[in-house]
Amino acid sequence: MLPGMKSRSHNRNMVVQHPREVEISLNGIRRRVAVKSNWTLLRLIRNSLGCKSVKEVCGIGECGACTVIKDGRAVSSCIELAILCQDSTILTAEGLTDGENLHPLQDSFVKEGGFQCGFCTPGMILMAKALLDETPNPTLDEIKEYMSGNLCRCTGYWQIIESIQNAVHQKNSKRIHYHHQRNSKT
Ligand code: FES
Ligand code: FES
Repeated sequence: MLPGMKSRSHNRNMVVQHPREVEISLNGIRRRVAVKSNWTLLRLIRNSLGCKSVKEVCGIGECGACTVIKDGRAVSSCIELAILCQDSTILTAEGLTDGENLHPLQDSFVKEGGFQCGFCTPGMILMAKALLDETPNPTLDEIKEYMSGNLCRCTGYWQIIESIQNAVHQKNSKRIHYHHQRNSKT
């Protein structure tokens, strides 16, 4: 190193990150947290707020393991800056259950064997929820297209697709059953 030059590590230490407070709604609960300017949303909700269902794998928005629903849209939380999430509404797998009851998609993934190691599963289920919120009766091609950004190293994908199809089928047959009951009473 030339005389008078500062080392890179010295320069890096000179970057001062002032924590700033961010307020979000996480699974229906308002949370206020001090974040650093380089924190991702993943860092905030997994490490600071304890939602361990949100997994980090690639860290660059390529695998979908860290998917959460932010303001109604599925996003990769590893590439969202926490500091830009002020007033956002975030849903993770922890917020899907209704007390002791699993969400229909969670139930279907269990019944159809839509996971093995389970590492990708919370992200898969949240992506599938976003799909069904947008398109309640998706075709096979629509499911494949929508889920194509979520990678699984275990299942070979068919069980995941069948889990989503089964959740749709269950919802539709409940609706038919309900209408049938209503009509038979009138
Ligand atoms: S960990 Fe975020 S997309 Fe892979
Ligand atoms: S179930 Fe193992 S990575 Fe998907």
